[in-house]
Amino acid sequence: MKRETWGSRAGFIMAAVGSAIGLGNIWRFPYMAFENGGGAFLIPYFFALVTAGIPILILEFSLGHKSKGSAPLTFAKLNKGWEWLGWWQVLISFVIAVYYVVIIGWAISYIGYSFTMAWGDDTTAFFVGDFLGLTDGPFQLGGFRGIIVATTVLAWLISFVVLYGGVKAGIEKANKIFMPLLIVILLIVMIRGITLPGAADGLEMLFKPDFSKILDGRVWVAAYGQIFFTLSIAFAIMITYSSYLPKKSDIINNAFMTGLLNCGFSVLSGIAVFSILGYMMHTGGGELPDSLSGVFLAFATIPQAINQLPALQVVIGVLFFLSLTFAGLSSFISINEVLVASFSDKLNLPRRKVVLWYTIIAGLVSLIFTTGAGLYVLDIADRFVNSFGVAMSGLVEVIVIGWMFKLVTLREHFEPISDFNVGKWWEFTVKIITPVVLGITAIQNFYQEFTTPYGGYGVGPLIAYGWAVALGILIIGIILGKSKWSDPSMLEMTPEDE
Ligand code: ALA
Repeated sequence: MKRETWGSRAGFIMAAVGSAIGLGNIWRFPYMAFENGGGAFLIPYFFALVTAGIPILILEFSLGHKSKGSAPLTFAKLNKGWEWLGWWQVLISFVIAVYYVVIIGWAISYIGYSFTMAWGDDTTAFFVGDFLGLTDGPFQLGGFRGIIVATTVLAWLISFVVLYGGVKAGIEKANKIFMPLLIVILLIVMIRGITLPGAADGLEMLFKPDFSKILDGRVWVAAYGQIFFTLSIAFAIMITYSSYLPKKSDIINNAFMTGLLNCGFSVLSGIAVFSILGYMMHTGGGELPDSLSGVFLAFATIPQAINQLPALQVVIGVLFFLSLTFAGLSSFISINEVLVASFSDKLNLPRRKVVLWYTIIAGLVSLIFTTGAGLYVLDIADRFVNSFGVAMSGLVEVIVIGWMFKLVTLREHFEPISDFNVGKWWEFTVKIITPVVLGITAIQNFYQEFTTPYGGYGVGPLIAYGWAVALGILIIGIILGKSKWSDPSMLEMTPEDE
């Protein structure tokens, strides 16, 4: 089967940026920056971008481009013994996909609610009670929430149609629509935000540096974690997307563009969100909103701020949740493509067949997050798959590629086709800086989890939705890595790959 390629360079950049810019930029970045030292967070954040984000983007782009295969195929081509790493990353994507889609479902529901501002005065009570129907604990599922099931299914349908269309006619086209719209919408919301009275106070809250935080190791761990999630690295996406690049592709430039556009977007969305919060504090007597963290920022605090806007409440509400939806969908599609590409490579099946089966199976699994316990399960799964999935697989990836493989051969692959060179700096970041930081991150994550179990949940739910998931995907990854390929000739390096 001939591998499809992107229609143009802009098409690839749009898709890679579309994958990177996601829910992580709009709700995760602003509150992470806020919680971790405001403006001072930007120092470890940009340090992480330069020492890990962009170097690993270059690494993954060149791996995918060189091997022209999904992540398991890419690692298997380098060394059959490493195939499991590819599958582990694919399964991390699976776990992310099944909860990510439900957050997109929430955003779609909230586009509807924006028209009447159905969330009322107590937006947190509405979100938790009326909307999520949150139960008393993670094991009390409490039945499916009709609206959430419906909007989640809608998000799956959109992904299905796009993936069914293929790489160029589906993914590339969808991103060419979603991305420009997203940027325009964000700019409108941002301009509205910064022209409100009190906006400056909000921005001060976000950017005012608390330099004492810079010495706190946890802030660095948070910055590196955020960079991996936001750039979609270490969960197989960028390897998959770059496997559709044509032969002559400027890898280094593409990586810089993707990394910088994504992080620039994060800063803009931080400005948009915090200027609106500043206005809210201004009208509400200087009180800091108490539900700033996680999903509450987007689904409780922002609606509360919208309630207080002097005009255009409906417009800003619709636009904000549309931006979440578009940002989420383009990332969600990339996460799903990881699974589709891997299974169609491994089983040598036509992608459309895989798209259909994958959507049905993953769609059914995602329904657990549409129950009354959905938010608990999501919170635990998100935490574990990031700490013990993304960050750990990133660590294994840089060790395997940096130390057990001749890194210089990759450099020799991408430098001749790129406009400018990265030189030894790149090898140093991949071999030394990233493994050290991710190694410390891993120790810190284990230590924290064993000393203060996450989120005040009981041991049972943390084992069931956290440890079992994190360990389960690793074990299944190893098993898949040992299983046979329908067409073993795929594993052979062609002269072009050498
Ligand atoms: N990179 C995607 C996001 O930030 C997964 O949401």
